[in-house]
Amino acid sequence: MNSPIVAPSVLAADFANLQRDIEMLNESQADWIHIDIMDGVFVPNISFGLPVLEAINKYAKKPLDVHLMIVNPEKYIKAFRDAGAANITVHFEACNHLHRMLEEIKSLDCKAGVAVNPHTNVQLLEDTIKDIDLVCMMSVNPGFGGQKFIQNTYKKVRQLKEIIAENEAHTLIEIDGGVNAQNAKPLMEAGADVLVAGSFVFKSVDPVETIEELKNVVSA
Ligand code: DX5
Ligand code: ZN
Repeated sequence: MNSPIVAPSVLAADFANLQRDIEMLNESQADWIHIDIMDGVFVPNISFGLPVLEAINKYAKKPLDVHLMIVNPEKYIKAFRDAGAANITVHFEACNHLHRMLEEIKSLDCKAGVAVNPHTNVQLLEDTIKDIDLVCMMSVNPGFGGQKFIQNTYKKVRQLKEIIAENEAHTLIEIDGGVNAQNAKPLMEAGADVLVAGSFVFKSVDPVETIEELKNVVSA
């Protein structure tokens, strides 16, 4: 089993010391930096937007994994790419024309991600799976950091892994919400590739060490 791609979520960082926290991630074993954009409409919370992403991009030395929890994502794809996004993930539930959206993201030379809420059946991704670089499987209801991991996620990861294999797709499975040292290994065993972690990393005594712990979870 490969070790996970680890993507700490800056939603749990200290926003008054964002440069310091990004530099900490640069020095750590983090692979990507996960950026949560919330509009107060698609989710019941507002996080931050383009100017903050631009500021992060000035210091970040790792790919920015942008998770758009917004309605009408098609309006903003190019702006997020210009602000520094490497991966752009839109919500399945926010797209009327998902295939078009994926094509557009890829035409901008970004990796195309689709996020699915806990209630969304992964079978719904079957017809687009070959066009999706990354599925962000929500293991909490999106909108807030620090929530409890939903156990049904394991089953969904196994189902999605099968769909990916049946279609000979190369899609990565990313788990987002409530990830910690306890569930990381069983998630990898179920078929996850990428682990997002906000609170578990940033609220720990030594975030660099916590990232390393996640990175080594498969061999532990
Ligand atoms: C939730 C966000 C997550 C969040 C994860 O809506 O999409 O990325 O930052 O935070 P934790 O790891 O604290 O659950
Ligand atoms: Zn996220």
